Amino acid sequence: MQSTYQDLLARRSCRKFTADPVPKDLIEKVIEAGIYAPSGMGAQDVIIVAVTNRELRDRLSTANAAVMGRPAGTDPFYGAPVVLVVLARKDWPTHVYDGSAAIGNMLNAAYALGLGSCWIHRAKEEFDQPEWKQLLADLGVEGDYEGIGHCILGYPAADPAPAAPRKDDRVFWAE
Ligand SMILES: Cc1cc2nc3c(=O)[nH]c(=O)nc-3n(C[C@H](O)[C@H](O)[C@H](O)COP(=O)(O)O)c2cc1C
Repeated sequence: MQSTYQDLLARRSCRKFTADPVPKDLIEKVIEAGIYAPSGMGAQDVIIVAVTNRELRDRLSTANAAVMGRPAGTDPFYGAPVVLVVLARKDWPTHVYDGSAAIGNMLNAAYALGLGSCWIHRAKEEFDQPEWKQLLADLGVEGDYEGIGHCILGYPAADPAPAAPRKDDRVFWAE
């Protein structure tokens, strides 16, 4: 319990990774933490696409950069070898919250397992595109899914920036 609490406070986004591959059993553990996240009415409407294939990862990176209007060669995944794409069923009312809870769990699990991670945005725009819808179909995913976000994973190549000071006046006690 104590170490869980400390991990929640100490985790930081990692934006520089070594080229070392991440063992599959560690990736599976991170995914499991995402799969165990809470979901509205316990619907388990979230799915995770684990991208470890380098060519596919690079194509997804190019697509993500394009959403931002950045040229090919910009890597919004910061060189991370693994990209866990989180998607959730569009027809479930809490799907965005559910997907976000899964990403949060995975970021914290990655930290607890000694990995670097970062939440990367723009999965919605990617998975609105036919090319990426086709990837889901090719993987056997049925139904209509919205991209919620990416959790990138790898071994940190540098110490992360320290946490920004927490803003004051964000907690209101109603005792
Ligand atoms: C919804 C969401 C989207 C984010 N998208 C990106 C992103 O596209 N690229 C990036 O470098 N970081 C992204 N982040 C990470 C935040 O920038 C980061 O969490 C924040 O700066 C605080 O730093 P920390 O994670 O080290 O506490 C995102 C975080 C959230 C919650």
